Parts: sequence; structure tokens; C-alpha cells
Amino acid sequence: MKKKIAVIFGDGIGPEVTQQSINILDAVAKTFSHEFEYTYCLMGADAIDKTGNPLPDETIETCLNSDAVLFGAIGHPKYDNDPAAKVRPEQGLLKLRKTLQLYANIRPVTTYPSLQHLSPLKSKNLEGVDFVIFRELTGGIYFGKKETNEEQTQASDDCVYTRSEIERISHLAFQYAQQRRKKLTLVDKANVLETSRLWRKVVQELAGQYNDVAVDYMFVDNAAMQIIINPKQFDVILTENMFGDIISDESSVIAGSLGLLPSASVGNGVALFEPIHGSYPQAAGKDIANPLGSVLSAAMLLDHFNLKAEAALVREAVDWTLKHNFVTKDIDPVNFYLTSTIGELICEYVSNKVPGEEHESDMELRRSTII
Ligand code: IPM
Ligand code: MG
Repeated sequence: MKKKIAVIFGDGIGPEVTQQSINILDAVAKTFSHEFEYTYCLMGADAIDKTGNPLPDETIETCLNSDAVLFGAIGHPKYDNDPAAKVRPEQGLLKLRKTLQLYANIRPVTTYPSLQHLSPLKSKNLEGVDFVIFRELTGGIYFGKKETNEEQTQASDDCVYTRSEIERISHLAFQYAQQRRKKLTLVDKANVLETSRLWRKVVQELAGQYNDVAVDYMFVDNAAMQIIINPKQFDVILTENMFGDIISDESSVIAGSLGLLPSASVGNGVALFEPIHGSYPQAAGKDIANPLGSVLSAAMLLDHFNLKAEAALVREAVDWTLKHNFVTKDIDPVNFYLTSTIGELICEYVSNKVPGEEHESDMELRRSTII
């Protein structure tokens, strides 16, 4: 298979984690005789520094002409503390999502037995936790009219949703639930918000077309609590843009580290794959960030190309590193490995150089030489 992939390193730790994914995709290509061709483009603070624009036209062009986009991270502290900044890195990502019509952001939340001790949740509440958040990505308060009055004493952000915007992501979420445990939870604030009442109405109507899927409805404040006290109850969570942003970061602590969670953003055309974490500027350039969120996003990209065996192998390699405590500093602050080392190990596994348990002694040797 021959595929064109647009690569946006972005800001902070974006380049170093994304580079691991590229190396791993190359290893996959070699093992399975595929050809992945990468075109690198700019977005975010990096793009502002180099071109003055957080999303240069060239980047849009390249993405539209690719089969998928692999993206690192966005954001820089110099903009976070400057509310007056006219140009911000995040504008690049928001515009790209809108331009590529990436209306559904899919964020799986999985737990790993070897990382249970890192989760603030008790182990008994973690077993069997496996849910997916379907976050609407191109509407709602993120994209509504934004205003500040002249005196700078009042500001507003409109939250708007249309029926068709709700329908298209709901269909995807229902279909996804059909392939899983057949449960869908709509998270909203229908006791207060008009937009949430429209979401509920539309989802209730669509539920009739998916009789095999059990649907329930939960207010977002309650959902925020349920995700912590009983995360096992969820299968597919469907929600609007802002609620999805918040509960997906919340959910990441269940897994043990924000650095582990991948995402896929899909729509009508080219899809984009990115870890859910931010640019983590304190770690940038230090080779200490966790690359697994990006690597698992690359696995979702392979799934999207329908390369199921390839995606499964990458996930198996990730599981293998975690099981053998080849982990980055966020997971083990004392005995940790570098970003690039984790990447290399996964490449080796994918290239079949680490065939399994019988190489335990080699691994021990490696462990002592790479710290
Ligand atoms: C995310 C991020 C973005 C969002 C930011 C960087 C604009 O938090 O992808 O979750 O809010 O969507
Ligand atoms: Mg977020």
C-alpha cells in the first residue's frame, strides 16, 4: 500500500514524540512492504515564528492532498499568559479542524494492568475500563461568535449547534457502539442549555435507528463524577466540543498518564491523528516526553488505512514496553527511559527483532546499558 502522510510536528514536545511515530511507521512499512511518503508542514507557535501565520496556506494545501495527517502538539507559554495576543498557536489547529471538516474526535480510554498504581483510582475500579469519547470538534462554543465590548468589561462566546452537526457525529458514535459493547451515553447539560436539549432530542430520535444500542443520558457535572467513581459503566460517550475537551483530559488520569492517550479526528475527507496531550514546553527538547500517545495515534492512523494487522502489532509493541517497564519519566520518575529509546524499542519489536519472552536476558542487558 502506498500512502501520503502530512506531518505537522507543531510545538513543544510535538517534534520529538512525532518523530518516534514516523520511525515506527517506517518500520511497519518495511515489515509489511508498504510505502509511506511524508510531507512536513508548519502549524502553531512554530509556524507563527517562521511565517507570522499559525496555519500557512501551504499546510492546508498539503493536508488536503494527503491520505492522512499526523500531528504532534500545539501551544507555547508566551501566548498563554497574554490575553491580548491577536495571533495564537491554537488558532492554527482550530482552523485546520474546521477546514478539513474533522467533526468527530475519537478518544479511546484504555487501562494497562502494569500502570494501575499510577492511577488515582483504586485498582478494583480500573479493571475492564475501556471506553471511547466521541467529541464533536467543529462546532459549539469553540466556533461561535466571540465578542468583547470596547470598554473591555464584557465578553461573550456563542454556543451554536445545528441538527445536522449533531446528526453526523451521532451516527458515527452509534455505529461505533454497535461494534463494541452496544452502549452509548450522551453527555450534556440539558437541564440548563438549549443546545444540549437539541442534542438530546436528536439523539433520542436517532436511537430508533439503532435498536441494538442501549442509550443513556447524563448531565456533564454528573458524568465528570461518574468517570472517576465508576468508569467501567461507559462504552461510547458522545458529547459536544467543550465538554469533550474537558472530560477527555479528566479521563486520561484513569489510564495513569496524559501522555498515553491517542486520538483520531475524522470527517468527510482526510483524517488527522494526534495525541490528546499538549505541547508540554517544560519537557521540550529533553527527550523525556512519553511518545506513546503519538505512537497509539499512529496505530489509529493504520487502522484508518484498514491496515489492521499493522495497527495491532504496534499496539502489541506498546503493551510489551509497558509490561517490561520500558517507560518514560511521567510513568517512572526514577527508572525511566528516553523518548527515543522507547521509540527504538517499538521499532525493533515491529521489525521482529524482539520476538518475545525468551529474550528476557537481552532486555535486562539493554536495560542496564540505556539508563
Ligand atoms: C485538545 C486541545 C485543544 C482543544 C486546544 C489546544 C485548542 O486541548 O485537542 O484537546 O481545546 O481542542
Ligand atoms: Mg484538550
